[in-house]
Amino acid sequence: MSEPIQTSVDVSDEDIHWSPEGGLTYGSYLRLDSILNAQGPRSAEHDEMLFIIIHQASELWLKLCIHELEGAVAHIRKDEVGPALKMLSRIARIQEQLTQSWSVLATMTPNDYLKFRATLGQSSGFQSHQYRILEYRLGNKNAAMARIHAGSPAEAAVTAALNAPSLYDEALALMARQGFDLPDSVLKRDFAKAYKPSDAVEAAWKRVYEDTETHWKLYDLAEKLVDLEQKFQLWRFSHMKTVERIIGYRRGTGGTGGVSYLVKALELRFFPELWTVRTSL
Ligand code: HEM
Repeated sequence: MSEPIQTSVDVSDEDIHWSPEGGLTYGSYLRLDSILNAQGPRSAEHDEMLFIIIHQASELWLKLCIHELEGAVAHIRKDEVGPALKMLSRIARIQEQLTQSWSVLATMTPNDYLKFRATLGQSSGFQSHQYRILEYRLGNKNAAMARIHAGSPAEAAVTAALNAPSLYDEALALMARQGFDLPDSVLKRDFAKAYKPSDAVEAAWKRVYEDTETHWKLYDLAEKLVDLEQKFQLWRFSHMKTVERIIGYRRGTGGTGGVSYLVKALELRFFPELWTVRTSL
């Protein structure tokens, strides 16, 4: 053996700040005292910690998705497609993290989960206000879902997201500014209502896809939106399958039919014409 195997790092020659000056440390900057003390298991079951942390980590990623989405929308409004695309790409990477987390959760068996499920009462991911805000901002304008947040601290933010133009509405407004003839029924619609697919919008996207050189920015944006929607569907599908393998066909703690409810959402589309146009190309 020429080189001895190292089993510890020698830090004696490093200029380490053992007592950081100025009061700011890794823990205080990241508020780790709050984050690491925010787990409050309601049972003594080993797997409840996994259940809590997967949800909390997902909520942190959702927070970043909303932050990036707001940034992307602000850029699109100013016709700055390039920086918006960068943010949408970041969201897609976050979505990969979110989807990957199901494989960690799937290490929890039905037996493990049933040991503490009763302690969750009627709480459910269905009540995630960040998830609802993200769905509204992407374009799933189902006003009925806001009801669960009535009277809660999140109500104003959820209502604002419901009433705001979605990412897709902003993309269509950008198209109109770039000279595409889109009807008022699309551009001046009530943004709190579900979007209705339009032949004129599909025809406009068709022009983009048939002449990508002229419409490169819109083409690039369209493909980023498709990417984002596909990844969202993968998250939904993985959630549904993970739920199926853990609770079977039981009702959800939030009151829905459970898997049957989650299956319904698999048919939803945020950017419908970007999918239908593919058949007519
Ligand atoms: C053992 C793990 C899980 C089970 C058994 C489960 C089960 C369910 C069920 C049955 C629903 C339908 C609503 C209801 O009646 O409760 C639901 C909705 C939801 N869950 Fe989960 N879930 C799990 C983990 C997660 C995780 C880790 C997240 C991450 C944030 C999450 C986020 C959501 C969201 C956002 C919804 C609402 C979906 C929508 O309205 O389209 N769930 N979950």
